[in-house]
Amino acid sequence: MKVTRALFDDVMAPNYNPAAMIPVRGQGSRVWDQEGVEYVDFAGGIAVNSLGHCHPAMVAALKEQGEKLWHLSNVFTNEPALRLAKKLTDVTFAERVYFANSGAEANEAALKLARRWALEHYGEDKSQIIAFKQGFHGRTFFTVTVGGQPAYSDGFGPKPAAVEHATYNDLDSLKALISDKTCAVMLEPLQGEGGIISPTPEFIQGVRELCNKHNALMIFDEVQSGVGRTGELYAYMGLGVTPDILTTAKALGGGFPIGAMLTTKAIAASLKVGTHGSTYGGNPLACAVAEAVLDIVNTSEVLDGVKRKEQLFRDGLAAINAKYDVFSEVRGKGLLLGAVLNEKYQGRSRDFLVAAVAEQLMCLVAGANVVRFAPSLIIPDEDIQEGLARFERAVAKVVQG
Ligand SMILES: Cc1ncc(COP(=O)(O)O)c(C=O)c1O
Repeated sequence: MKVTRALFDDVMAPNYNPAAMIPVRGQGSRVWDQEGVEYVDFAGGIAVNSLGHCHPAMVAALKEQGEKLWHLSNVFTNEPALRLAKKLTDVTFAERVYFANSGAEANEAALKLARRWALEHYGEDKSQIIAFKQGFHGRTFFTVTVGGQPAYSDGFGPKPAAVEHATYNDLDSLKALISDKTCAVMLEPLQGEGGIISPTPEFIQGVRELCNKHNALMIFDEVQSGVGRTGELYAYMGLGVTPDILTTAKALGGGFPIGAMLTTKAIAASLKVGTHGSTYGGNPLACAVAEAVLDIVNTSEVLDGVKRKEQLFRDGLAAINAKYDVFSEVRGKGLLLGAVLNEKYQGRSRDFLVAAVAEQLMCLVAGANVVRFAPSLIIPDEDIQEGLARFERAVAKVVQG
């Protein structure tokens, strides 16, 4: 059967609009399409391919586990899941882990746990969840409602109730909403989809203090910022603030679907037997791969490398901007960076992405005004230079119209 992009429109639900070319193979930070055209990958599968494509350690872990045991369900536990949970609890604040299959599912678990914990300890009235405008937490109906982008949550009928939104980096807007009826405040410690926005230290510290004052749980959604992306294993480690619940997915599996919710023993106690679950959560294949990813990412070699590579990106983007004057700033941290389009190019981030693909470069957008880069955490320096050269050609094309 000849597989073409046209087939997508014939057989797939129309909720995506993928590029014209179809990638068929990837190695490190390079990808090849059906015609053998090679691309540099600055997109990383939307901050997922933490070790690039087909990293030998991941392939080995998958093959080894693939010949042992694929699936059991949670009627039985399995060795990879227990090993991974032990490692995650050893290297974070957390004492307990719940495994899911995606970021949205990890967040769904976090939100349900917060509600149940509040109900158990304080009663029915403590059910309010506060999140932030421009936040993104996934596409299940609960998580998309908590996410602060009505464009994604409107039009599906009545929403889960008692969810309100404050303004990111504006502590007063949170103060105006929070009370003893708040059960949780959920936020990304670096907003990704919303435009690559870092929290100020005062804001993040202030959120923690307000949560403490009102006995509300602080939930960090580290689905995009976690697993080395910012140069710390988790972004909270660089912020001096510890959440009560943390969710992680994307880069954790490096391309194999997995999500996890991490929390303390005391809070996890509210997830009693039968309160929540998933057929696949903690699947041995996913956990075996994630263990291999975590072992590699949580080393000074990789984490320091992320900080060094961030500078290569910043220097390269500054040089491009000096020539073409398209960005007002480059923001973000580590290898989650956003080049913000200046006044002249407002609303045109997709044009840059399309021009980049034509120059054999994969990158991302974060809203209409930000070009986003979330490459492999171990992308070779030569690939960064080559990708930036291609990006410069794409920028030149957009500027020349
Ligand atoms: C911060 C954040 N949370 C949650 C999600 C949803 O993750 P998933 O698509 O794996 O459900 C995303 C995805 O982009 C994200 O960036």
